[in-house]
Amino acid sequence: MGKILIQGGTVVSATGRSAADVLIDGETIAGVLAPGQAETFGVTAASDVRIIDATGKYVVPGGVDVHTHMELPFGGTFASDTFETGTVAAAWGGVTTIVDFAVQRTGESVQDGLADWHAKAAGNCAIDYGFHQIIGGVDADSLKAMTYLVDNEGVTSFKLFMAYPGVFYSDDGQILRAMQNAGESGAMIMMHAENGIAIDVLVAQALARGETDPKYHAFTRPAALEGEATNRAIQLARVAGNVPLYVVHMSASEALAEVAEARHRGQNVFAETCPQYLYLSIEDQLARPGFEGAKWVCSTPLRSKHEHHHRDLWKGLRMNELAVVSTDHCPFCMKDQKELGLGDFSKIPNGIGSVEHRMELLYQGVVNGEITLERWVETCSTTPARIFGLYPTKGVTAPGADADVLIWDPDGHTSIGLKKKHHMNMDHSAWEGFEVDGKVDTVLSRGSIVVEDDTFTGTKGHGRYVKRGLSSYLV
Ligand code: URP
Ligand code: ZN
Ligand code: ZN
Repeated sequence: MGKILIQGGTVVSATGRSAADVLIDGETIAGVLAPGQAETFGVTAASDVRIIDATGKYVVPGGVDVHTHMELPFGGTFASDTFETGTVAAAWGGVTTIVDFAVQRTGESVQDGLADWHAKAAGNCAIDYGFHQIIGGVDADSLKAMTYLVDNEGVTSFKLFMAYPGVFYSDDGQILRAMQNAGESGAMIMMHAENGIAIDVLVAQALARGETDPKYHAFTRPAALEGEATNRAIQLARVAGNVPLYVVHMSASEALAEVAEARHRGQNVFAETCPQYLYLSIEDQLARPGFEGAKWVCSTPLRSKHEHHHRDLWKGLRMNELAVVSTDHCPFCMKDQKELGLGDFSKIPNGIGSVEHRMELLYQGVVNGEITLERWVETCSTTPARIFGLYPTKGVTAPGADADVLIWDPDGHTSIGLKKKHHMNMDHSAWEGFEVDGKVDTVLSRGSIVVEDDTFTGTKGHGRYVKRGLSSYLV
């Protein structure tokens, strides 16, 4: 592997931007150089350094998507992207690292669950990947396994569910135990914060009234029950000893307010949102006539556009109440998958596919004046890397970091959708017809060019498993 010089671009980080050239040697970044300095490093017209012209473009660290579900078993089927199709799609979208969720359910061994995920991913990924561990059955064995995974497997974060009783659900006592355990090892608890017990009552009542369309998915998961569960998770983490808590896929203003208050108190609480909660709504998507709304059934659900959740979430991103934007990429086709819920919304597999579109959808937030260019980099790359123990190998353009680079064309334009030939393994797009400013120009994963000239040039198997450390946000 030789050297590459990305020349003439504007290097953008979480803290600023400057005209600079990026020198890559093999898999890592060798230097971020003032324009014209490359010769000092032996780069001349005659040298065998490949030059990439980035004039007029932004050079940013590759995207880090810390919430994906490739091949997740859910609702009687499997998420439709494999690690191969999902990571190729991610690369197309400027993402160079994903962190996916290995699964353990009640009665199963955590180590077996993790081994299953390694078997699915190994040799199949186009970009680097790590794992969180879902703990669906908190008991003495799984608690012991959590510590083992932190110490030995590079798995330093664990997702618990206050939703989905009978599937992944943990009660408050189990959550407290898992949090206490995480407190000892320094691990992060990730929380699906919705009151699943109350939701199940509302779902049964809705179905009994004959309310079976997809939109009832949202009406039976009210924002108040996301806010309540978020508050309960925060209080449990507090009682457990200020254990680090990361609230996933936040959609409701009520939940955001709880996180903001906890952060102001100084509690180690972080939260993410996803593009669907910033742009999509019950009225414009989920409540479409017939069964079409099934495309947008996900949990937490889309919210009403009349209740200012969108506005509050964008503000939360600006204020650092929301630290990260991930996708919660969990794709299901309409045919044979979402269709499982025809006539009963509660049987529609939950999830939206977006791994390919996060960078472009959030860049539109820059264009619209919602966030700065630097905040785009921070929420989509640097902070996820820092919170989940990938930094400074990932999430930064600096000497010694992996040469994961996205060259972004601010003058380009992106048309999103299946009709525009997206690369996710889905028979529809939740984003069909979205037109956004800016465009992925070139993507490098550990020094290898994986997307260039509108062509995927990477390879299955290039992506490596990344053992993660503890969060670098905590003292
Ligand atoms: O609808 C969603 N979010 N599906 C994936 C599973 C989860 O809860 O993250
Ligand atoms: Zn979840
Ligand atoms: Zn998820």
